[in-house]
Amino acid sequence: MYLGLDLGTSGVKALLIDENQKIVGSGTGHLDVSRPHSGWSEQDPSHWIRATEDAVAALKANHGRELSAVKGIGVSGQMHGATLLDVGDQVLRPCILWNDTRSHAEAAELDANPKFRSLSGNIVFPGFTAPKIAWVRNNEPDIFARLQRVLLPKDYLRFWLTGEHVSEMSDAAGTSWLDVGKRAWSPELLAATGLDESYMPSLVEGTEVSGILKPDVAARWGMGDKVVVAGGAGDNAASACGMGTVGEGHAFVSLGTSGVLFAANRAYLPNPESAVHTFCHALPDTWHQMGVILSATDALNWYAGIVSRKAAELTDELGADLRTPSGVTFLPYLSGERTPLNDSAIRGSFQGLEHASDRAVLTQAVLEGVAFAFRDCLHALAAAGTRLERVTAVGGGSRSTYWLKAIATALNIPVDVPADGDFGAAFGVARLGLIAAEGADPHAICVAPATDTTIEPDANLIGAFDAAYNRYHNLYPALKGVQS
Ligand code: XUL
Repeated sequence: MYLGLDLGTSGVKALLIDENQKIVGSGTGHLDVSRPHSGWSEQDPSHWIRATEDAVAALKANHGRELSAVKGIGVSGQMHGATLLDVGDQVLRPCILWNDTRSHAEAAELDANPKFRSLSGNIVFPGFTAPKIAWVRNNEPDIFARLQRVLLPKDYLRFWLTGEHVSEMSDAAGTSWLDVGKRAWSPELLAATGLDESYMPSLVEGTEVSGILKPDVAARWGMGDKVVVAGGAGDNAASACGMGTVGEGHAFVSLGTSGVLFAANRAYLPNPESAVHTFCHALPDTWHQMGVILSATDALNWYAGIVSRKAAELTDELGADLRTPSGVTFLPYLSGERTPLNDSAIRGSFQGLEHASDRAVLTQAVLEGVAFAFRDCLHALAAAGTRLERVTAVGGGSRSTYWLKAIATALNIPVDVPADGDFGAAFGVARLGLIAAEGADPHAICVAPATDTTIEPDANLIGAFDAAYNRYHNLYPALKGVQS
């Protein structure tokens, strides 16, 4: 048995697979985000531990016997968050999350130093880890003075599981401190934020052993004393391992809190100018590119909250057939945007409202707005040399066939829906737990699931979607002048 633990933004998932990679069961624990100021987004790391305990307890309630046979654990999580520890490994302040944009000025300042783009292969986005530390240094000097170690969220969870300070390449690539081509911390980039390697965890590949489960945790979960914890992966690389998106030309679209258009690459192909992210993959000697939008299901959930409906009720209300865009345009920039804008100040909008704009029309606009944001990512990937022929859908939002039809039509490429199963980040890192525990060949384990259905672009609506995309595309420059 192998356990995958995925520390997401809205909850922790624990998923158990057997030696044939068959899913045995899963459990979840809930998490909230605290937003004390506009653009801020924080979580208390102790809540991650509680949610992990809840998720494993839920799993144990139904699968206690199978849990006792676990040999390997993999950890994945929301990327980029800055968890600050003091010399005694105590948490110094709430973790500043990936979608927190308070450090935009610090990010711009670091990004202006050409070393960052040339060594890390990426724009220094405000959501990345290094500018957050620069913000703490500028705004909370007492905390910075006590800082001893910076850990990414899932690496804090690993520390709690194993007592080891370890990270792995895919998540470390999103800090702005990694030399992504060399797969090593960059002393130069660390020095630019007043740090050195002593503040960093050591690095392993996602498939390697990072530590052994601590006896107290193992006893509570009913596990043995030799459970290995694999390096694991940032949530996007983890999903890619679950989806078998590890070879050249493979791609997925992820509809989670954030949205990701992800492509696996055999080589390191940075192109920061297009605002594409170029990170290490979780498998040795592989990399990936991705376009990231900050609000995907987050946008739909926000709207669902406003109209007091569940997100699934709203998408069901649209019916089965894709509708012609109504003329109402939604920009999903609730927390600013990464690809392709790199703009943390911009905010979302509905444009083109009229008397006939009812709840369903606005739902449709929200789904289309997210689909168009993915089209921007498709163009950004193309500018970085990666052309996608088709994508596989993953993430909670992919349960809406309507949304997938809108995405297939907006991107004008087929969207494959995997056969029933749960191939997300928790599954991906359960696979990494298996590889680390058994020394298995990663490419033999990280294979793609069978495709259940393929959603083709709606040929009759391509023209209308093109026109709606053009409205979407022209809105940002018009609004930018008004908002920022
Ligand atoms: C990726 C990113 C998000 C988070 C969400 O760069 O910021 O996808 O990892 O969990």
